[in-house]
Amino acid sequence: MSGQNVESQVSEARPGAPNSSEFIWVPQATAIAREAGARLREFFSQGVATEYKGDVDLVTVADRTAEKLIRERLSEAFPEHGIFGEEGTRDRLEGEFRWYVDPLDGTTNFAHGMPQFCVSMGLEQRSSGLASDQDGTLVAAVIYDPLRDELYAAERGRGARLNGRPMRVSSTPELAVALVATGFPSKKRHESPNIHFYHEFCLRSHGVRRAGSAALDLAYVAAGRLDGFWEFNLNPWDTAAGILLIEEAGGQVTEFSGGPFRLNSREILASNGLIHSELVGLFEDMFAGRNLAPIPTPQEFAARRAARTAKSG
Ligand code: IPD
Ligand code: CA
Ligand code: CA
Repeated sequence: MSGQNVESQVSEARPGAPNSSEFIWVPQATAIAREAGARLREFFSQGVATEYKGDVDLVTVADRTAEKLIRERLSEAFPEHGIFGEEGTRDRLEGEFRWYVDPLDGTTNFAHGMPQFCVSMGLEQRSSGLASDQDGTLVAAVIYDPLRDELYAAERGRGARLNGRPMRVSSTPELAVALVATGFPSKKRHESPNIHFYHEFCLRSHGVRRAGSAALDLAYVAAGRLDGFWEFNLNPWDTAAGILLIEEAGGQVTEFSGGPFRLNSREILASNGLIHSELVGLFEDMFAGRNLAPIPTPQEFAARRAARTAKSG
């Protein structure tokens, strides 16, 4: 299929179009994600040895095997498409289309036997003349959770689906009754301020989940299971697919400031759209140090505990 044909099909597609057979790239990407997911499932049930990429940044044979498989299959299915994979694949990046691939998002869970991980594949279309630091348009997304057999898919202008059924973000109207999620980095974790944000969101919402797979968190926002998600320092392979799922499911993705999200943005804020401005306001307050609840110091905590013990004794 020529790029011209694809471009005109993308621009003519009707928002939320109901028929998944209209999807252009998703059917083949789905088959690839399912095959990679089946390999992950086998590795998961056998148990795999863990190596380190950094002090706590894990990688396993499953990550590498899944990326190799996805790379081979994508190259067969879409010989002209580029591939940018977490485990090092950098193929044909000068082309019009580029897949961002996380072959196993949630490696730490996987390595510890926690059943929360996925395959994530997002397709970007880049018009000619785009500078290397400029974003193209995300046009297709597939995220596959092999343990639940849940397949999230979207194409720009053609809607988002979970296991073939239309998928929509939640209608939760405010943070006070929202369930939100975040994650913490494995690199430079001593520099991360996120625990302060975690604390503030815990106090202002129904709860904050930290499940360990950013791509699945984003898919859950798209599916209406979560109302919002934020994280620092994710990479395009973590976010590309999830962003398009959320946008096609009616939600919103920006930086913490509310400004446009770019694939190399160092911060992501995703929501059902309805609570987005409230979340942006909270980030503004957080960065300005306004209206924040203090976290008890260890000394205050120890003193309160001692006082309670003395009272009950
Ligand atoms: C990680 C997961 C995790 C997030 C980390 C990511 P990986 O990806 O998405 O939820 O908090 O920042 O690096 O390493 O398991 O592919
Ligand atoms: Ca990841
Ligand atoms: Ca990964």
